[in-house]
Amino acid sequence: MSRSAHPAGPRHADVLPEGHYSAPAEDLNALDPKVWARTVRRDEDGALTVGGLPVTRLAEEFGTPAFFLDETDFRARCRAWRDAFGADADVFYAGKAFLSRAVVRWLHEEGLNLDVCSGGELATALDAGMPAARIAFHGNNKTTAEIRRAVEAGVGRIVLDSFEEIVRVAHVADELGVRQPVQIRVTVGVEAHTHEFIATAHEDQKFGLALAGGQAAEAVRRALKLDGLELIGIHSHIGSQIFDMAGFEVSARRVVQLLAEVRDEHGVELPEIDLGGGLGIAYTSDDDPREPHEIAKALGEIVTRECESAGLATPRISVEPGRAIVGPTAFTLYEVGTVKPLEGLRTYVSVDGGMSDNIRTALYDAEYTVTLASRTSDAEPMLVRVVGKHCESGDIVVRDAFLPADLAPGDLLAVPATGAYCRSMASNYNHALRPPVVAVDEGAARVVVRRETEEDLLRLDVG
Ligand code: LLP
Repeated sequence: MSRSAHPAGPRHADVLPEGHYSAPAEDLNALDPKVWARTVRRDEDGALTVGGLPVTRLAEEFGTPAFFLDETDFRARCRAWRDAFGADADVFYAGKAFLSRAVVRWLHEEGLNLDVCSGGELATALDAGMPAARIAFHGNNKTTAEIRRAVEAGVGRIVLDSFEEIVRVAHVADELGVRQPVQIRVTVGVEAHTHEFIATAHEDQKFGLALAGGQAAEAVRRALKLDGLELIGIHSHIGSQIFDMAGFEVSARRVVQLLAEVRDEHGVELPEIDLGGGLGIAYTSDDDPREPHEIAKALGEIVTRECESAGLATPRISVEPGRAIVGPTAFTLYEVGTVKPLEGLRTYVSVDGGMSDNIRTALYDAEYTVTLASRTSDAEPMLVRVVGKHCESGDIVVRDAFLPADLAPGDLLAVPATGAYCRSMASNYNHALRPPVVAVDEGAARVVVRRETEEDLLRLDVG
């Protein structure tokens, strides 16, 4: 799903099934800063370090598998997004990428807002002290109980996703005697260049109300009639892991067209538009993500231009990056359990986690890289597949990679760019215990989400 092609391949090209691999050009011990969190280095003993702490020590203290999240990097990325968009725009971190109470506090301190998409995320946000006014509540089928909780808390906006929901939110607002700020999520009919499961703006899917055919315009009509709703804007999210700004351009143009139609029909200029998240990150060296300031500039120019030509005042813009903030800031640390060479094919390296802590490879064909993290090695490169310990042959963490041929059980492997949608999509498949998330900042490491225990599992199983 990352744009990168399958990596240049193994040593024995003649015996490999696909036949188009060649030996890796790069030094296997080298770290491409594009895919690693900002403070990751190697120390003089060759061990990977984050925030100055060697992974060998971290593994002893926190165990494996574990996610190590570079707090310094996370905060720097928050600031980069906030500064790039400035005071006239809002950045909402998409909590679905990864949310914990510590993350909520960092966001709050760094001046970001938060997008939540479930009662659980909302509860986490409120519990950790995010002011409700800075929360946007999303989802294509929010329950009435979730809506009530959000309205009661006073969330800054609810993003309406269906005709039913327009009525439900208005009803709850009436009951509580408030006027709830809302946006309407529209599908703009853009084919985002990304994996089918994470593209969301083409018409044949479950999210939003389509611009084509007039559903979105009808939703505006209905929302404007209801006293309990304060329609503040239009929302569009075109998909995820997108590099090409063309999709955002089309989306912004179509959303602005709707604003112009709304003005013409109702005499109302809606003051906000939200262009969603979806900005891609580097999972491998082949990926070239845009910097926040480039994205802010491009989006700002598109919206301003379109509004000028439609004779509209430029609305306040918001965006919802999730992956682009947290994705690059974490890596997963695993311990090698078995090394199984398959003659003429490749070597299978089994680690102590797998699809329960990273489902993305199995689900989206996502590509990751991996490095030997506990030491360096000058051994020959060997083609490996890094697999997990689950009872499933699709339990692959890294489909194709090179690791040193002297790799052995007990070595530590690190997979970069696992901050987004890995811990948040983790499961208990095979009664796996979900790994902890350890935040590292300037030489200090602390658990922000603890490792699950067998006791946790048994507590849910009431017998
Ligand atoms: N806003 C809305 C309304 C969204 O639905 C999403 C993601 C985002 C923002 C944040 O998108 P991001 O900037 O993180 O790409 N599990 C998939 C990704 C699903 C994204 C769902 N919505 C994956 O692992 O790639």
